[in-house]
Amino acid sequence: MRAAGVVVILAMIAGSSCRADECASFSASTMKANGAVAMAKWRTDYPSMRLNPNDQQPWEAINFRTKPADYMNAVLGTAKSSFKIADRKLVGTGQEEWWISQWLDYGFSGREPLMGLTKERSPDAKDLSKTSGDKYQVWAVGFYNRPGAAVFGDVFAEPCDPSFPVAIKFPFDTASVKFLFTDASPDEVTYLQGAPEYDAFIDPVPTGSGPPGHPANTRSIRTLRLLQVDISVRDRRSTETGWVFGTFVWRGPPTGDKLFDNLVPVSLQWGNDPGVYNNAIREGWTNPDLLGVTYGWDERPTMGFNGRANGPADNIRSSCLSCHGAARTPRASIGLLGSSFKIADLTDPMKVKAHVDTWFQNIKAGQLFQSFEPAASALDYSLQLEAAVVRMCQACQFGDLRGPTPKVCRATGFYNRPVCNAPVETSLRERLLSLVPPPRQ
Ligand code: HEC
Repeated sequence: MRAAGVVVILAMIAGSSCRADECASFSASTMKANGAVAMAKWRTDYPSMRLNPNDQQPWEAINFRTKPADYMNAVLGTAKSSFKIADRKLVGTGQEEWWISQWLDYGFSGREPLMGLTKERSPDAKDLSKTSGDKYQVWAVGFYNRPGAAVFGDVFAEPCDPSFPVAIKFPFDTASVKFLFTDASPDEVTYLQGAPEYDAFIDPVPTGSGPPGHPANTRSIRTLRLLQVDISVRDRRSTETGWVFGTFVWRGPPTGDKLFDNLVPVSLQWGNDPGVYNNAIREGWTNPDLLGVTYGWDERPTMGFNGRANGPADNIRSSCLSCHGAARTPRASIGLLGSSFKIADLTDPMKVKAHVDTWFQNIKAGQLFQSFEPAASALDYSLQLEAAVVRMCQACQFGDLRGPTPKVCRATGFYNRPVCNAPVETSLRERLLSLVPPPRQ
């Protein structure tokens, strides 16, 4: 009897000293897929130590205003030794200096198991290329480097009850990299011809005009190709916003490692060009070599709004910084972008002015977008943190997270009762979750 008691106490001590990196009272991860396929192994063992502030990152030697492509390649270079293609999947080395976010593995756009991809906006016809259709899916996985992941370590120190300060602040030298894949046909998106194929456990096609989500149980293994790679950097030289965002496209014919060696810089921005109502963009850059490849036709004259930065998968009404600058929880009532703007409105100066003045302000790192509407937390350009809060609170609401309600769900008003719901009947849950759009609109 006595010996057994000692064992129990020792087990408790051991248990409390090592931090769980996932929430134990949550059992509905979309990564599990009923054990149908193997699960990607990405790191969530967030580092507690930040980089020595004297460490030099390779991009710090490069002026992003005058050498945007070189700057972008220097940032991407820090990821190159960490990721490769193996067995039709994007994988890490196991010791890669890149970490994923908690709580993106729930709901209809929740992480699929094979590569940990979340479901993104389905591009409109002619977004990806002059001839692309609108029945395609985009799925993505994003990572933070060590300084950024240390912030995730603070936020998710208690994974079932994360702590969100009034304003999240990522340290200088935080970088994030995000890989976006599509099932679009290389016959229509010709720059993808010859691209390596990847397997992911995703929704059936078509999805373009259907409901925002499909029940996770209709997912199956399908073929994707890498389309776009996004980067973001917290850079002290960006006096406009504190951040620099840019993107690459995978452009054939295949060469080298067929992963990084095929990535061509598309666009970069450090500011939103507030008050600029024409195409005279000064706080960003778009690669002129891609005219006619990723932009330059009637439906997509530019990458982002009036020449601001964006990638092929992105909505031309927005820019990287306009969408990410709106990161806060809860979201502002106007959302992340002005989706009602019509491309035909580009010729209407009043409509252009209203759109620019609303969406293309320079929000400083840590500042709250639409600050007249109170928020529980300003999220410093991290839309993954925003999605994580929403999904965790939905899991609590639908009974897939048990126990006390996470504090942030009450502070945001997403779910106000002190204890998470008992499990909700499956068909009701599926109906409710299907109302939740995929994050990147
Ligand atoms: C219309 C909104 C929107 C636009 C435009 C947009 N993003 Fe995002 N982005 C999101 C959302 C939502 C997420 C989080 C969910 C996810 O990862 O699927 C995200 C995630 C990311 C991440 C992962 C880090 C994080 O916490 O947010 C990076 C890096 C990123 N985007 C870079 C870019 C770049 C670079 C561009 C422009 C080329 C861009 N994004 C344009 C909505 C947008």
